[in-house]
Amino acid sequence: MAAITLKAVTRRFGTNAAVSNVSLDIAAGEFVALLGPSGCGKTTLLRLIAGFEQLSEGEIAFDGRCVAGRGTHVPPEERNAAIVFQSYALWPHMSVGENVGYPLRVRGVRGTARAEKVAAALAAVDLTGFEGRRPADLSGGQRQRVALARCLAMDPAIVLLDEPLANLDVNLRAAMEDTFREFHEKTGATMVYVTHDQAEAMAMADRVAVMEKGRVLQVSAPETLYREPANETVARFVGNGRVVDCRILGETDGGHAEVQLFGARLVVRCAPGAAHGRDGLLGLKADDLVAGDAGGFAARVRKATFKGSHAILEVEPDAAPGTILPVRSDRMRPVASAVQVAVTDAWLLPRGEADDATEGAAEAA
Ligand SMILES: Nc1ncnc2c1ncn2[C@@H]1O[C@H](COP(=O)(O)OP(=O)(O)O)[C@@H](O)[C@H]1O
Ligand SMILES: [Mg+2]
Repeated sequence: MAAITLKAVTRRFGTNAAVSNVSLDIAAGEFVALLGPSGCGKTTLLRLIAGFEQLSEGEIAFDGRCVAGRGTHVPPEERNAAIVFQSYALWPHMSVGENVGYPLRVRGVRGTARAEKVAAALAAVDLTGFEGRRPADLSGGQRQRVALARCLAMDPAIVLLDEPLANLDVNLRAAMEDTFREFHEKTGATMVYVTHDQAEAMAMADRVAVMEKGRVLQVSAPETLYREPANETVARFVGNGRVVDCRILGETDGGHAEVQLFGARLVVRCAPGAAHGRDGLLGLKADDLVAGDAGGFAARVRKATFKGSHAILEVEPDAAPGTILPVRSDRMRPVASAVQVAVTDAWLLPRGEADDATEGAAEAA
């Protein structure tokens, strides 16, 4: 395992910055996911770490040793980082055993030593006995496990994975998530896992780095990302959250504030010191809005969908015509009926610099 340090890493293609000023410290043995929509720069960042891509600016270090930047570019084969692609990249004309042993052969490991490493790697991904098969005779999940075994046999300090489950069907993905987690525990390797699927990132990673347009917006443990988004974009993106305007009434203690939302007063969570100013933004998750007959804010049901154990209502607050929010209900309710919506949990978003600037401008006006 090795620690990875990214300092102000930028990669431009022409005038387009695919990766823009990214700084990130990944601890030795940590499992970090890079999460974001297609085109946000995940693959480029992974290729920069692997050494397949040249930096435009910044620096990359492994265990404090500079591998890229400051006039240095350590080639990929000298970085002891293995990369696993969604396309598996197995040799079709080689058997499973030959595929897994290939990088060892290139390194000059021969005979029994190689055979033992290949057998151990295949055992680790539950493919003992598959040595003689061809990749064509395997399922997608098995091929991805061969790719993992090949990576394992090399004993890499760093494992980089680029959407390795993208080609697999949903059922297989869940099983493979377990495989990756076990792989991580067994090897202790530092893992950087690229995905656009937040459930996947949240299920596996110690920390998730949310990316947008080449930038990293927040790096946090999955639960923190969900409960304490750093800004509006993360609040909307993670867990299909909603962001609504509120009036800040005051801070009640270091971690809570009193706010007014659609005419109702409530106490919400916030970062210490975040509850200053008059206008705020609240991050809400569907599970935190509950339909009832008393308390909370008044709203009308606009749509109701039966979900078995509960129903999901889309409601329009009386105080904010045109705003539609998803709300949990223990039963179906008729469209157009009145409902009271309790807010069981909410997060007052920290104020960004841009927000302060707009507020200043609004006050001046
Ligand atoms: N070799 C390249 N030449 C020009 N533009 C590129 C190249 N590689 C990536 N890009 C651009 O950089 C941006 C980020 O791409 P990528 O890292 O592949 O994103 P992701 O993996 O998140 O989908 C995209 O706009 C893409 O078109
Ligand atoms: Mg990609």
